[in-house]
Amino acid sequence: MNAKSVDILKSLVQLDIDAVGAYSQAIEHIENTHISENLNKFMRDHQQHIDNLSNILRVNGEEAPEISKDFKGFILEGFTSLRSITGDEGTLKAMRTNEQLTNKKYKEAVEDLSLDTDVIATIESNYRDEQEHLSYIEGAIEARIWEKTGTSY
Ligand SMILES: [Fe+2]
Repeated sequence: MNAKSVDILKSLVQLDIDAVGAYSQAIEHIENTHISENLNKFMRDHQQHIDNLSNILRVNGEEAPEISKDFKGFILEGFTSLRSITGDEGTLKAMRTNEQLTNKKYKEAVEDLSLDTDVIATIESNYRDEQEHLSYIEGAIEARIWEKTGTSY
């Protein structure tokens, strides 16, 4: 695997680690059950990305960034902390900012022509998850679903 691919994979693993940290904070703030179920699913997607990208690195003899047991803060710049944010609306808006970042980074990765062809499929698949996360969060904010009860949104 070329050095550029290794760099991209490592930075995406770190991105997904930070995203898991952001979601674990976010889920603590969410009261609406439907929103929190969706955010839990998105957090699992990010964990899955950490696994699939780390596997590629290890198969190629490279070390993957490690997840620390307790989340102490974001490694990458640009993530919005959710510590001081309250309410479903504020939480969703902070996570929209965070998902805009993950989408931007994945988009840059899939468009990088120096990537090895055997890693592109995995990165594209992860990027599709990212687009789904952002699209859900944007729709949820637009519909103000935290104001609705019994919604199946
Ligand atoms: Fe995401």
